[in-house]
Amino acid sequence: MNDKYSRLQIAIHWLVFLLVVVAYAAMELRGLFPRSDRPMINMVHVSCGISILVLMVARLLIRLKRRRRRLCRNPSR
Ligand code: HEM
Repeated sequence: MNDKYSRLQIAIHWLVFLLVVVAYAAMELRGLFPRSDRPMINMVHVSCGISILVLMVARLLIRLKRRRRRLCRNPSR
């Protein structure tokens, strides 16, 4: 098991990767869909983007919490 990153951090990392791919693909491929689907595609795009923002904030908070815990266990580092 990776000691530097928790399973949750790794899961969030790959989820963000997936969301970036979907957000980008939604915009790149929107021309392939009928115009009537545009609002739905835009909604997918914006939802992915906002989810990425929320997950990145979560990652930063998890990172700060883990660092604080590590410093408490080993104050010399
Ligand atoms: C990782 C996150 C995101 C990526 C990679 C991304 C990427 C893109 C790309 C490539 C386009 C097409 C630009 C063009 O060729 O005209 C686009 C358009 C757009 N994006 Fe994003 N975006 C992201 C997040 C967001 C978020 C969070 C919002 C809104 C809150 C947003 C709103 C829009 C809007 C309104 C458009 C124009 C759509 C249209 O032309 O109808 N995007 N984005």
